[in-house]
Amino acid sequence: GRRSAEVVRRGKEEEGGEGKKVKVEKLDVKPPKGTRDFPPSLSRQQTWLFSHFHAVSKSYGFSHYDSPILESTSLYTRKAGEEVTEQLYSFLDKGGRPVSLRPEMTPSLARMVMGLKPTLPIKWYSIPQCWRYERSTRGRRREHYQWNVDIWGVEGEAAEAEVLAGMVDLMRSVGLTSDDVGIKINSRAVLREVTEKMGIGGDKFASVCVLVDKLEKVPIEAIEGDLKDLGIGREVVEELLTVLGSKTIDDLAEHVGEESEAVRDLRSLLRLLDFHGVSDWMVFDASVVRGLSYYTGVVFEAFDRTGNLRAIAGGGRYDGLVETYGGERTPAVGFGFGDAVIVELLKDKGLLPDFERGTVDYCVAGVEGPEDGEAVRAAGILRGKGMSVDLVLEKRKMKWVFKHADRIGARKVVITGGEEGERGECIVKDMDTGEQVAVKLGEL
Ligand code: HAM
Repeated sequence: GRRSAEVVRRGKEEEGGEGKKVKVEKLDVKPPKGTRDFPPSLSRQQTWLFSHFHAVSKSYGFSHYDSPILESTSLYTRKAGEEVTEQLYSFLDKGGRPVSLRPEMTPSLARMVMGLKPTLPIKWYSIPQCWRYERSTRGRRREHYQWNVDIWGVEGEAAEAEVLAGMVDLMRSVGLTSDDVGIKINSRAVLREVTEKMGIGGDKFASVCVLVDKLEKVPIEAIEGDLKDLGIGREVVEELLTVLGSKTIDDLAEHVGEESEAVRDLRSLLRLLDFHGVSDWMVFDASVVRGLSYYTGVVFEAFDRTGNLRAIAGGGRYDGLVETYGGERTPAVGFGFGDAVIVELLKDKGLLPDFERGTVDYCVAGVEGPEDGEAVRAAGILRGKGMSVDLVLEKRKMKWVFKHADRIGARKVVITGGEEGERGECIVKDMDTGEQVAVKLGEL
């Protein structure tokens, strides 16, 4: 809630003279609803998580890229009735142009690839902050950072397998196992085959997928009207439901026929994932369709096996996205992996390191404060050797210095001045062992 306070300004130069009371609304110190501040402890946590994102991306040979957080709203005006496009933070800039904060990175990546025309294939990754006007729940916020890993220009399932193996390596690198996390895999291409066979035009396919995705949350009756508007009858719905309810790939193959290309591709993907050594993480799930309109083939979603949290990550193949922007069909596959759900999961599992306290190599203080220059010199020598050094900037009692050193996680404390100082020495105390030695300043 808002609190207001009466603040008395002793306005010497202000009109009205000394002692005039000015009523000031006290600042609401919380960040906007659904958004986060990153004070040092959370920033350390973020840096830690991102370092894993960077490390895995690097180990798979992905190159980093970025783009502006602000995009033209037209980049997101897709007509399939997706949630993301209804959750846009959009406004007119001062020039009257409709702009939006990016809700996801994939459209920006498509725009960049269309504009820059890099020689394909490319493997690019990014960790953008994304904005969606969502109802905030555990692991869902109005801003989040999302690790994006995408491969453009590769037709075959080797690309899906590569990004999925990377996703698994990230989970492993933060201490999770396949008992904690699973990755549901399916293919929209199966649904396309089914709808095509039943005479549903390709132009309606994206909308059908977006509608079918809602079945996770609402009963079939809730979307029946919309399906009817698309000209999709009861018998198609029933056929789709049967396919979505397949328990295994064999089951699925039985419904759609062994000759199905989509089924063959799925099988080939699972085989490749076996070579990657990540099969125990994978779960075939025919009901996964995903809510974004642009996916055309394999789709997948990482989930926590206790079922307490929202999706950890999601992605798939989207060969048709560039086409929707008036370009040529271009193979593309990738995923987005948020920074919020993974942290909740790591907390639940007791796997999140403690970031409350930072660390520095040295805390340096002068008995006389920084004024006599010795402490400043000592800090300079240590920094020159690549050490991280916190120099105490005021004259303080030694008791305070050691308390401070403990608070900032200093491994060693250097005290200059005093008797030792007269001999050209300083005291170095090891904070772990408590050991204390006198050292010449030049030998620090
Ligand atoms: P998405 O499923 O909308 O896909 O989001 C991917 C992931 O971002 C989610 O699984 C979740 O971890 C995180 N995420 C999404 N919304 C929020 C939120 N409000 N708060 C916290 N985390 C969130 C995409 O965005 C696709 N563009 C991913 C992609 C990349 N597909 C291909 N390449």
